[in-house]
Amino acid sequence: MTTLPPGFWAVVPAAGAGKRMGSPIPKQYLEIAGKPVLQHTLERLLSVERIAGVVVALSPGDDYWPGLAVSADPRIRTAPGGSERADSVLSALDVLAGQARADDWVLVHDAARPCLTASDLNHLMDTLARHPVGGILAVPVSDTLKRVESRAIVATVDRSLIWRALTPQMFRLAALRQALVRAREQGLVVTDEASALELQGACPGIVEGRPDNIKITRPEDIALATFYLEQQ
Ligand code: C5P
Repeated sequence: MTTLPPGFWAVVPAAGAGKRMGSPIPKQYLEIAGKPVLQHTLERLLSVERIAGVVVALSPGDDYWPGLAVSADPRIRTAPGGSERADSVLSALDVLAGQARADDWVLVHDAARPCLTASDLNHLMDTLARHPVGGILAVPVSDTLKRVESRAIVATVDRSLIWRALTPQMFRLAALRQALVRAREQGLVVTDEASALELQGACPGIVEGRPDNIKITRPEDIALATFYLEQQ
């Protein structure tokens, strides 16, 4: 009897209010380069055939979702989002657990990162498929970094040790679920999946990604993301 290799799934937390954007429309539904941000993001994930399905966590009462063309895609399911990003991810993992195996890989990707390329996605999956823990896309920092207290520099940080964490972040379904549940039980708010695994003593891998995989956060990011989407 042969055992099937672990499958790949995606989880997209899309239940944030995007307060820093200062827009009445949640940032994942703002239109850029002709489509809503979330439409771009989901199309990018669905373009990679070995991703078996995607669970999108949505804010309860989200009226925009049904209007998105991609919402009718049979590979997509939805889950109710929670008050923190990690709660939204956990809710999506609960939905996925009915469908996926405990050792399947889950790629968690922010709704607000529409410029992810299929090549970065494939690179992440290919590099980490045999990794004991999993890992994340990240980019090395290029600026000199300062540790600051009361608006004064107290130290210069060795930047060769510092990377910026992007998404997707790829971990095994059961291990990720357990790590997020433990973080919640300890009252810790984790802002990415790797942090939850790190709290368990694991050392997630790093795969160098493209710096144009930005997270739309502030109004000026819209023009930048539009430029990147048009260039790619
Ligand atoms: O707010 P921030 O940009 O860090 O959010 C990252 C991602 O997490 C976004 O795609 C956002 O929609 C999602 N999120 C969520 N549930 C929350 C908060 C954020 O799904 N409660």
